[in-house]
Amino acid sequence: MNDQPIAVFDSGLGGLNVVRALRRVLPERPLVYFGDTARVPYGTKSAETVIRFTEEIVRFLLRFDPCCIVAACNTASAVAVPVISPRVPVPLVGVVAPGAKDAVEATKDGDVVAILATAATVASNAYRNTINRLRPRLAVVQKACPLLVPLVEEGRSEDDPIVRMVVREYLEPIRRLRPTALVLGCTHYPGLKKPIAAYLGEGTKLIDSARSVADHVGRLIGTKPLSRISDPGRLLCYVSDNPQHFQSVGTQVLGEAITDVARVCPEEFAVPSRTIIDPPDRVAV
Ligand code: DGL
Repeated sequence: MNDQPIAVFDSGLGGLNVVRALRRVLPERPLVYFGDTARVPYGTKSAETVIRFTEEIVRFLLRFDPCCIVAACNTASAVAVPVISPRVPVPLVGVVAPGAKDAVEATKDGDVVAILATAATVASNAYRNTINRLRPRLAVVQKACPLLVPLVEEGRSEDDPIVRMVVREYLEPIRRLRPTALVLGCTHYPGLKKPIAAYLGEGTKLIDSARSVADHVGRLIGTKPLSRISDPGRLLCYVSDNPQHFQSVGTQVLGEAITDVARVCPEEFAVPSRTIIDPPDRVAV
């Protein structure tokens, strides 16, 4: 496991927030990222489609012989990870459990916790069920905010008046409930922390699970310095469309230059059977 990469995927580029957190915890570990930029958004699609897309991506990522695969995408984590993880031969880590745990730790019985997520994540009730399993006496309100995703994909700034208007529109009913914590249950929303926090005020703690996910991966694979690695911290990115756009907006999201981006077609990695998801031909990182 020493020099194997961590594989991370998302429906687009918001998952780079998780990559950034992984960089802090495991700076030397090579990373392979896949963003399904041709098929984003996942949050408006059916569970069946999200599961199929996730299977294809996992199969593609297994080619890199990863030590684990992180589903940075909340929608895939909520809808597909529980279904397919028993068939994946490496740990498949989702973001729902770490986010739910953080929310529970930030609240007490009788509080209100709000979940902002995509329509598919809200429909799955994955956050609500996980939170209420840990703390049954917490009121969980959920809100789908689909318009926030394209605003981030487009690279709109947090101060953009359109961003502030959309945030206000979605959060108005939530603010009235005075939640103690609000889970940013979508890869893209941490990019809009500033206007969300400004609108809700200081009484609401924002939960961005990227750091907890990274800590979880660190515990899973160990944070010891790597010995055999020839190119520490290498980041290889793959997208299903428009690598140039990913490179320029992704560099802003990640806060470091993205240099290696290539286009792949995930449909080529369709899973032929419902058994273990085996990799096609392996590639060295
Ligand atoms: N990556 C998705 C998520 O975290 C957001 C974007 C989408 O709808 O695909 O749920």
